[in-house]
Amino acid sequence: MGHDALAQVLRQLPEVTDKNLLVGAEHADDAGVYKLTDDIAVVNTLDFFPPIIDDPYTFGQIAAANALSDVYAMGGVPRLAMNIVAFPASLDLSILQEIIKGSTDKLKEAGVILVGGHSIEDKEIKYGLSVTGLVHPQKIITNAGAKPRDKLILTKPIGVGVITTALKNGKAKPEDAQDAIESMKALNDEASRIMQEVGVNACTDITGFGLIGHAMEMAEASSASIMFNIKNIPFFPKAIDLVKKSANHPKTIKSNREYLASNLRMPDDIKPEQANLLYDPQTSGGLLISVSPEKSQKLVEQLSAAKILAAIVGEVVEKGGVAILVKD
Ligand code: CO
Ligand code: CO
Ligand code: CO
Repeated sequence: MGHDALAQVLRQLPEVTDKNLLVGAEHADDAGVYKLTDDIAVVNTLDFFPPIIDDPYTFGQIAAANALSDVYAMGGVPRLAMNIVAFPASLDLSILQEIIKGSTDKLKEAGVILVGGHSIEDKEIKYGLSVTGLVHPQKIITNAGAKPRDKLILTKPIGVGVITTALKNGKAKPEDAQDAIESMKALNDEASRIMQEVGVNACTDITGFGLIGHAMEMAEASSASIMFNIKNIPFFPKAIDLVKKSANHPKTIKSNREYLASNLRMPDDIKPEQANLLYDPQTSGGLLISVSPEKSQKLVEQLSAAKILAAIVGEVVEKGGVAILVKD
């Protein structure tokens, strides 16, 4: 979340020249990485947001999976986490207890220890976590290593933003959202472990900036362009339905599109519902992995064997006039 005008302000950080800072804010990567020894670097990230679904336990699970994801995207292993809580004085504390329970259960599944946190009173619930992970300094996977000819593999379908918005506005039934909720609850741990094992060139997770936004960050950080093959992009069928039916797309699709469209080229005959979903903000989305063509088959096979989606959604090309190209 938060990849918008506000995020741009936060990125205007003073330039750092510390030889141990291996990944800083310069490439809009998922997390910061700092080398402690020749064998160990620490990965730092945080994420928090208002509930995207009503059930507090499920929201806690999703918030935790989402916060851990940035560490997995860097090829790291999360170790410690701290709660970030904003909660209205008027609400029943059992709601917060359920959120924390969902989150702690998810952290347990990931083998992460919750070591504390901070809470404030606020008008609206917000919940998330700061996460500390570890990675070998030589094995950090950033969004800056994509090379022309690389295949791009996506590990979760797109469309959870549209679906959760419709659920909130009473335009979708809970059973319509079940796939999307399961997807958001799923950790990117296995996908991360497998990509480390196979050896890949770049990775980012897909969150608030949508598939296009995060791919654009990867293209820019890697001084390359990215060509998507729209036919191979997995969308939740319900998300396609919802975008087709509604002329009022979520505000977030519109703001992502306004911000990103000038750096993208796509043919006029792309179905508008698919074009719109490319900008849909994801919560706890999948990994977008850039892997050499030689290793791509092995990566797809190993992900599939672990029952993880491995859609070859496009490829990296030489840097052109725009960062993102979409073909039919
Ligand atoms: Co991220
Ligand atoms: Co993030
Ligand atoms: Co990264």
